[in-house]
Amino acid sequence: MRICFVCLGNICRSPTAHGVMQRLVADAGLSDAITVDSAGTADYHIGELPDERTRAAARRRGVELTHRGRQFTRADLDRFDLVVAMDAQNLQRLRQLAGGRTTPALVLLRSFDPTAAPGAEVPDPWGGGDAGFEEVFDQCERACAGLLAHVREQLR
Ligand code: 4NP
Repeated sequence: MRICFVCLGNICRSPTAHGVMQRLVADAGLSDAITVDSAGTADYHIGELPDERTRAAARRRGVELTHRGRQFTRADLDRFDLVVAMDAQNLQRLRQLAGGRTTPALVLLRSFDPTAAPGAEVPDPWGGGDAGFEEVFDQCERACAGLLAHVREQLR
């Protein structure tokens, strides 16, 4: 099972989900069965480490983020089984890129959080204060736990 998390810049939200999920997968002993990556729909931050505020929020929770920003491309549609968008705008961009394709599955991250409302998004923290980055981490942590449970069901 190959999973790619997607936001706009690939320096805040999707690298957070990527790092959180990678740790959950490793802790579950499933690193051979589940691979995790992330990308942005925009090309603004290619090659960059995650935003310093994103890295600090993750580091406070014991997660070191080392991913380098990259842009999601059409070729990625063949490289993943599940593409997980952080918000409706990026989900829409992915749907446009996919055209009429039925695979890979394109879904919203918070659809895996049973406590989140239908259609809930991970809001872009980039232009806001530090609290937004903590919130992104919390949202990713809850949703990735649900995502792992979902994937385990699929792997059975
Ligand atoms: P991300 O946050 O999509 O969660 O990585 C953003 C990072 C950078 C920009 C927008 C959102 N930007 O406009 O550069």
